[in-house]
Amino acid sequence: MKRARCVLLPRISISRLPLIFYIILCSVPGIFSTKNVTLGSIQIFKTHEFLPRKPTIYFYCKGENKIILPDVKEKHFFYTFKGKESWQPLTELTDNKCKRCGLYEMDRIKSDDVFDEWELCLDDFIDGKSIHFKEKEFNATFICGQCRAGVVPVVDSGVTSSSKSGSVDKKMNVVLVIVISALVSAIAAAGTVGAHKYWQKRKREQDQARFLKLFEDGDDIEDELGLEQI
Ligand SMILES: *[C@@H]1O[C@H](CO)[C@@H](O)[C@H](O)[C@H]1NC(C)=O
Repeated sequence: MKRARCVLLPRISISRLPLIFYIILCSVPGIFSTKNVTLGSIQIFKTHEFLPRKPTIYFYCKGENKIILPDVKEKHFFYTFKGKESWQPLTELTDNKCKRCGLYEMDRIKSDDVFDEWELCLDDFIDGKSIHFKEKEFNATFICGQCRAGVVPVVDSGVTSSSKSGSVDKKMNVVLVIVISALVSAIAAAGTVGAHKYWQKRKREQDQARFLKLFEDGDDIEDELGLEQI
């Protein structure tokens, strides 16, 4: 029984390594995590409603739920949001994929009217902010604090602040990668030491068994010799 437990122990700790690695990665914000996109402000320049009725405007990404903007009713009014409203966030972005999203107005008679439809990508966010403007339709700012600053081409000194924060983010990421690598190395080293110890122990047991067997064989020989002497 005891022996069986010894065999199991190192195996379990090694098979848990990927799980531990995964948990570490998921608990680090910014790496592989999804990024919430909220609406910062919006101003609509027209409505598509024929009847004198308040419009129902919503944001929608392909394959997701419609997010109705309950307050946005008036043309040319500049609405600002804190990002914590009950209907926020609008959507989530992942690292490697853009989403097809748009701003629409519900229409009870014909199909819904489109303010605009576009690709919402991580790279659109500079310092966590992205402005989408369509002439005669609307002007909106989208906020995504967790989105990295996109690859900003350094043209003049005006963009130094954004590229600076980008390099800070990069430095953070490098530090995180180093920390994770160190952790993984430590776990791997512990696993190796465990396996080595286990191997040594087994070898010792085998040696002992062989030694005992040798003794028994020796006894047999002695017995035989003794018999022969008699
Ligand atoms: C759209 O809104 C942003 C922020 O509210 C503002 O800075 C920008 O000038 C506006 N753009 C237009 C074309 O109205």
